[in-house]
Amino acid sequence: MSKYNNTRLLQALKRQTIDVPPVWLMRQAGRYLPEYRALRTKAGDFMTLCQTPQLATEVTLQPLRRFDLDAAILFSDILTIPHAMGLGLSFTEGEGPQFAKRIETLRDVKALPTLEVEEDLSYVLEAVRMIQEELHGSVPLIGFAGSPWTVACYMIEGSGHKNFINARKMAYQAPEVLTALLEKLTIATTAYLKGQISAGVNVVMLFDTWGGLLTPAYYQSFSLATMQKIVANLKADPHTAHTPIILFSKGAAVNLEAMADSGADALGIDWTTDLSMARKRVGTKVCLQGNLDPALLFSTPEKIQAAVKTLLNEWGQHPGLIVNLGHGIEQHTPIENVQALIAAVHGASYSS
Ligand code: CP3
Repeated sequence: MSKYNNTRLLQALKRQTIDVPPVWLMRQAGRYLPEYRALRTKAGDFMTLCQTPQLATEVTLQPLRRFDLDAAILFSDILTIPHAMGLGLSFTEGEGPQFAKRIETLRDVKALPTLEVEEDLSYVLEAVRMIQEELHGSVPLIGFAGSPWTVACYMIEGSGHKNFINARKMAYQAPEVLTALLEKLTIATTAYLKGQISAGVNVVMLFDTWGGLLTPAYYQSFSLATMQKIVANLKADPHTAHTPIILFSKGAAVNLEAMADSGADALGIDWTTDLSMARKRVGTKVCLQGNLDPALLFSTPEKIQAAVKTLLNEWGQHPGLIVNLGHGIEQHTPIENVQALIAAVHGASYSS
């Protein structure tokens, strides 16, 4: 028996039959919650929230106090790795992430230090331990990292500019620089996820938010190949082999079959792809997670209920479904609509 009271997520990841599918939401902790905004104001900025384990713990737990969620997700960011490598990350209100330094040349890549997770990211590991103490087995905790490609996009661009043209240009103009950077990030990300798992996370997720910016061939060589290496490394180590891995490449559904062969246990699907169509394409190789449109949460509880019903009916009785949005909750999302979504998933019965 598992030590968890709520095992829906872990059961879904094993493709076991359960009462109702698990539901959690990307960015379930964040600015749509007044208690998050209050804590961030008190802390001063976003990075202080991430770097202070007590505050990261509190923020992680905030949505669980309000909603009947089936998982907690570590409160942190995918850009903690480049920050730890000395690029100098800051977040300015309304402007997104900014790095003091960016990566342009092979010399820049070579100058990046090797990540020492236990030292450089000890605040994340400490947060994981504190969160697990507070959760006390109520729900599983999801850890995460960005995919090497997605993190490289920010390191090359220096910020979150649209389309990441400098990173994409590098794939053509200086592929050896991009490859060297991705190799460093693959090693760092593997070590980071291993650290999170030994600190206590129960599931890990790779966020490849910008995988969909690449051609299918470049997606394979610059994004999927690095994620495959990370998955293989985790699956080869007895300490991490049994921790389920969710892989989410946004806007990259053209590559679904290749993703399903990556060795990951589950794939995140965004709202531009039909979930049951995705299941037909990948068969029973992986679980699927998704895929409601975050904009749906700006409608009404009735429309949300109807959308959840449609999703569950179209999915049918198959195991291996994790209900989520197709991307993070938007900033001004009404809280009562989040409540309506979760209630609809848990209360819904399948009409056949
Ligand atoms: O999902 C969760 O609740 C866990 C926390 C989490 C955050 N970021 C907190 C956050 C997770 C899993 C992430 C991942 C992340 N970070 C991704 C991949 C997923 C995605 O959304 O595509 C990316 C691309 C980042 C990088 C990042 N962090 C950006 C581009 C921004 C600014 C955009 C924005 O929404 O303002 C952030 C900041 C950030 N990370 C916030 C939160 C709650 C907002 C910060 C704030 O103003 O308080």
